[in-house]
Amino acid sequence: MDKQQYKFSDKIVDCYFDADFTFLEQLVSKENTVIITDDNIASLYTERFKGWKVIAIKHGEKHKQQSTVDHVIDQLIEIKADRETIIVGIGGGVITDIVGYTASVYMRGVKFAFVPTTILAMVDAAVGGKNGVDVGVYKNLIGTIKHPEFLLYDYSFFKTLPEEEWTNGFAEIIKHACIKDAEMFTMLEDNLLIDFQHAPEKIADLIKRNVEIKYKVVANDEFETGERKLLNFGHTLGHAIENIYQLPHGSAISIGMVAACRISEELNDFSLAERDKVIDLFKKYNLPVNLPSRETELAAVWVVLLMDKKKSGDTMNFILLNKIGAAIVKPIPLDQLKNLFNQVLL
Ligand SMILES: NC(=O)c1ccc[n+]([C@@H]2O[C@H](COP(=O)([O-])OP(=O)(O)OC[C@H]3O[C@@H](n4cnc5c(N)ncnc54)[C@H](O)[C@@H]3O)[C@@H](O)[C@H]2O)c1
Ligand SMILES: [Zn+2]
Repeated sequence: MDKQQYKFSDKIVDCYFDADFTFLEQLVSKENTVIITDDNIASLYTERFKGWKVIAIKHGEKHKQQSTVDHVIDQLIEIKADRETIIVGIGGGVITDIVGYTASVYMRGVKFAFVPTTILAMVDAAVGGKNGVDVGVYKNLIGTIKHPEFLLYDYSFFKTLPEEEWTNGFAEIIKHACIKDAEMFTMLEDNLLIDFQHAPEKIADLIKRNVEIKYKVVANDEFETGERKLLNFGHTLGHAIENIYQLPHGSAISIGMVAACRISEELNDFSLAERDKVIDLFKKYNLPVNLPSRETELAAVWVVLLMDKKKSGDTMNFILLNKIGAAIVKPIPLDQLKNLFNQVLL
């Protein structure tokens, strides 16, 4: 096991990489803990959860809504969870988002921790303190910023992780490479997904490297006044299409990042060759680079996009690439952005 501490302005988060799930018993008592997971994980890991109090919600993004939070709160009341209770979210990003948010508001805030079980949750959703739920099609419209007490990474959860979820997780890893780490970009180019799936040390190193990229960006700019915005690369369009087209998060942002690369080529010095390298890397990791159908619902996409949290007056703070490994925030007037989307998406 490899313990690291990540320091934020109001919290130190202990991170246990390469740990065993049973180590949880040394961090929290079964008595005071409520595990929140989803029905897929609950049924796959019944043995592991024996003796723990477990609330299992329905899996999937469509349940990342306030109604699920209300349902969880009813169950917390039934269990008699109080301010001494610690809630441990075990699952993908949907679980970590719901748990972080629910724990932040239940009794005005109880402690919580995460055992992320997807690549995406390990490298991204569990790190950085943002959590929340969607409101209808509007992604992450409500939420809080609060860090967990600890993160426990047990890579044995990968044994049951569906192929599609490996792919989704790599979308955020490629994002980190595009905005911050050209060397990792090349390393990803030199490998295939299967190379990571079959080499426990390789995937463990990659996960830690990505947690550290995200941690550094967040720690430098916790309140998203500058650098943290770069983590939204591909997410303005990605979030708008995710729920309209019912795409997995990884697929949606992959399409969003490709669109952002095409816009970078129009507005920045981002070269055609680099744009193609990014597109090829997504393809290599089986991620989509175009919207699923040409019958695009661009009008609907635009309505959702206008609710994006990065909009400021008549401009959108859009993330572009200067080159691979170097991103910038560029305010783009909404009219111009709409034209650019029509150009790159149709
Ligand atoms: N808060 C943040 O900073 C942040 C960052 C990135 C993404 N997110 C959010 O994360 C969500 C996506 O997360 P996700 O891709 O992990 O999706 P997810 O939580 O829906 O998990 C994907 C699927 O995999 C299953 N699963 C999870 N772990 C498994 C395992 N070990 N074995 C078998 N099945 C398993 C789940 O039951 C689910 O069906 C989105 O809602 C996104 O908005 C949040
Ligand atoms: Zn994301």
